[in-house]
Amino acid sequence: MNKIIVFLFVIMFVIFFGCKDSNSAKSVSLENQKSNEDYIEQGKDIASSAFLALSGELRSAIQEGGLENALTYCNLNALALTDSLSQAYNVDIKRTSLKYRNPKNRPSPDEVEILNEYQKALESEGQLFPKVINVAGVNKFYAPIIMQDACLKCHGAKASIPVYKSILKHYPDDLATDYAMGDLRGIWSVTFRK
Ligand code: HEC
Repeated sequence: MNKIIVFLFVIMFVIFFGCKDSNSAKSVSLENQKSNEDYIEQGKDIASSAFLALSGELRSAIQEGGLENALTYCNLNALALTDSLSQAYNVDIKRTSLKYRNPKNRPSPDEVEILNEYQKALESEGQLFPKVINVAGVNKFYAPIIMQDACLKCHGAKASIPVYKSILKHYPDDLATDYAMGDLRGIWSVTFRK
């Protein structure tokens, strides 16, 4: 009988403290998750405004003067545009890729890791999600950039890029070709300033 009472007591003890522990663990992780989610939401807003700004400019440059004009536009303005959005949002916005066109967009070692992770995830799961990582107190947002139909004209198979010669003139070491629809083209990398 005594043994049963001790046993019940132990069970209640475990349940009581066990629950308490798991509850407090839950609330801590919920708090972390919340601030992480805030950064994810902000990062998504920033990346999608940058994407809309760039693709809008690209579309009007094509309409005004064809692909060649759009190429010159990207060459002269793509970085200036992401830089001015960086100032506006008080973050550092970068578009980067394992196979980059402009050497100024070369990935950092952290970004190479993320790009490799996304590449693996795309092959195994077929779906990619934005993420936020905290490195030494700095929050960094990453989101995948997937190849679409409109990108093939400048990033598809070399033979099918009408302006390939001009691309090589601007970017003699260009790596950003031979992509297909649905490929991972690169990532948005947004660093929230402290
Ligand atoms: C008119 C040609 C053209 C089209 C169309 C185009 N791009 Fe680019 N892309 C460029 C050029 C030129 C650069 C280099 C810009 C620079 O100098 O910063 C570039 C750079 C990039 C980069 C930055 C990394 C790097 O390689 O330097 C990404 C990512 C990218 N493009 C993705 C896309 C996606 C996605 C699409 C379709 C939605 C697209 N591009 C459509 C010409 C084009």
